[in-house]
Amino acid sequence: MMPEFAVFEDSESNVRSYCRSFPAKFEKAAGSKLFDVGGKEWLDFLSGAGSLNYGHNHPAMRKKLLEYIDGGGIVNSLDFYTTAKEEFIRLFKECILVPRGLDYKMQFCGPTGTNSVEAAVKLAKKVTGRKGVVSFSNSYHGMSAGSMSVSASFKKRNEEYLNPNWVTFLPFSGFSGLDNEFEFIRTMLTSPGSGIAKPAAFIVELVQGEGGINVAAPEWVKAICGLAKELGALVIVDEIQSGCGRTGKFFSFEHYGIQPDLVCLSKSISGYGIPMSLLLMKADLDQWDPGEHNGTFRGFNYGFITGAETLRLFWCGRAFEEDLKDVAGILGNRLQGFCRTYPGVVAGYRALGMFAGLVMNDASTARKVQEACFDSGLILETCGPDGNVVKFLPPINISHEDLSAGLNLLDRVLARVG
Ligand SMILES: Cc1ncc(COP(=O)(O)O)c(C=O)c1O
Repeated sequence: MMPEFAVFEDSESNVRSYCRSFPAKFEKAAGSKLFDVGGKEWLDFLSGAGSLNYGHNHPAMRKKLLEYIDGGGIVNSLDFYTTAKEEFIRLFKECILVPRGLDYKMQFCGPTGTNSVEAAVKLAKKVTGRKGVVSFSNSYHGMSAGSMSVSASFKKRNEEYLNPNWVTFLPFSGFSGLDNEFEFIRTMLTSPGSGIAKPAAFIVELVQGEGGINVAAPEWVKAICGLAKELGALVIVDEIQSGCGRTGKFFSFEHYGIQPDLVCLSKSISGYGIPMSLLLMKADLDQWDPGEHNGTFRGFNYGFITGAETLRLFWCGRAFEEDLKDVAGILGNRLQGFCRTYPGVVAGYRALGMFAGLVMNDASTARKVQEACFDSGLILETCGPDGNVVKFLPPINISHEDLSAGLNLLDRVLARVG
């Protein structure tokens, strides 16, 4: 046991996980950097698992938050009407929904992503009067029982705890390697002899994060949406990790020209790492009775304050999306370069915008790369069912300088490992 971690290792549950890959005692953070108690510095390309898309402690957000606290702003308000929530809703509508031609109603859920998934699935079942949900291979939607039931990842599934009844897993885009992958899905869901009842909903991440940065093909997504319509099922897009600009657009579904029936958002929606979770629903689907999906922390106003500032800073207008193209271009080019330079260890890369993964030949190499990066000052996570994908979630507003510094560091590590 490391004496400096004794308090945690003695008293905190064995369930802790990230701290095992990143053994340091962190104290401060700014932008894309983290600092430990001794002042050692890391570039953070994990960004709170996508909850810090705009980096740590953004100064303008911090200022707004401090002003709000200083002014005696209400903290937790259940689902009372508050000025902070009003401003967030107004800006979300004005900057996100209206310019994209979206007419969604907004449901504030309990504070983490999984609660939005629970709400989406529950609402889809209520609206359609059906029980079944179709989910996809390598999906991950959260750790509460309902969300885990629609998650394929065996790393996370706990069969004793969850309720797999009525969940059908079918191949995600490209999973089977078969040319007629969609035809298989269609047959399973339309043939009277397949044993699968018409589902209430399809739930899908268009770019699977935990599943290994798998980017769905546009024709597959269009076909799934068409099939859902034909079956009278709803399409739930889980944007919890892929949303809030991560893929280069505010929603990943904008790349596909679709408008999902239900959209789950969380992680970076508050912009500052403050827990917040949102379900967007087409207006006619808002068939909830008052209080039917309740929760104490649905009105954490600090999140509304920093979330509203995030919208003002980055999303009122389209300029930020242009900046995103530049940084994503840098990231993509460098990852492509690593594939060429280190073919002995790197098998390929997958990316949409600033959501990227470097596919290593095996999990142990990915782990070695992660450890060596951490020792040298770069925080990176691994993902995928085989643990062989090094995942890139740098802040999406990262400076070109910090992005290049992190990638140069990785280059040196790959040169050693490869
Ligand atoms: C796609 C996706 N859905 C849902 C969740 C669950 O969110 P939370 O951990 O905030 O409950 C996650 C978390 O990583 C996720 O990546």
